Amino acid sequence: MPSALDPELRRALAARIRYYNELGIYDFYRRPLSDCAGAFASAIAVDDPEADISQPTLETGEEMSPRKAAAVAPPVAEENIFDAIAPKPEQSVGDPVQALKIIREDLGDCTRCALHKQGRKQIVFGVGNPTAELMFVGEGPGADEDEKGEPFVGRAGQLLNNMIKAMGIEREQVYIANIVKCRPPGNRQPERDECATCSPFLMRQIAVVKPKVLVALGATAAKTLLAMSASMMQLRGRFYDFKPAGVRSNDPNWDGCKLAVTYHPAFLLRDPRQKGEAWKDLQMVMKELGMKAPAKSTE
Ligand code: URA
Repeated sequence: MPSALDPELRRALAARIRYYNELGIYDFYRRPLSDCAGAFASAIAVDDPEADISQPTLETGEEMSPRKAAAVAPPVAEENIFDAIAPKPEQSVGDPVQALKIIREDLGDCTRCALHKQGRKQIVFGVGNPTAELMFVGEGPGADEDEKGEPFVGRAGQLLNNMIKAMGIEREQVYIANIVKCRPPGNRQPERDECATCSPFLMRQIAVVKPKVLVALGATAAKTLLAMSASMMQLRGRFYDFKPAGVRSNDPNWDGCKLAVTYHPAFLLRDPRQKGEAWKDLQMVMKELGMKAPAKSTE
């Protein structure tokens, strides 16, 4: 659709729409395309004299306060700006297994970002209980995950399994996914545009699973989900109210969830001294979910 729009203006409009979505505002009037660009921009200016649609997006690694960051939307890949507010096809399906299948089919043999031609063997969609109360989100598949097509099956996955067990539950009871679904070459961090391109599918998965608590594993997951940049020290230790960006809940009983940030298991493998801190994060999550840790075996 509005391909005539200047890319900068399109990005600014998409960011503004996401911002309004996050405030719970979804309904916008659409003018005919011919006068769309100018009219939409001026409508925003009239409705909200404070609006600054030229607000720049964040640079990777840029530090900012959570307060300021909360109002900044993530970078938006070239997309139809109204996709963000259109109902998603899976939302008319009651069965979460079917709904997830629709999202997977929508992904197809994805070529939306550069990762598809950088050696990925397969797309790693997500795994687990489609109605889980607890969902974990990592960064992206590694070699083992790329081989098996399942998230967190390598060494970091073993540790994640142990963390889940320590909470008194099994891996099968939670849902696990990643910010990007294709393996970045050499296990490099996914680029910002790769996260921005892939994460709308994750947002849709979250909206289907409807967890009570979402745990972001590591900085990439935390920064992408929260659309903010801050250190892990600043991000951990509290809950955030989270609504999947660009997805309007069709369930009156689910209007988002709590999000907690903890260390990525791969980081904990490198620095096991931080395991105690991660356990504190998980205890906070357990408390929120009314879970009790299993009694320690004395054997
Ligand atoms: N690291 C991640 O972030 N995700 C995986 O699936 C595996 C390792």
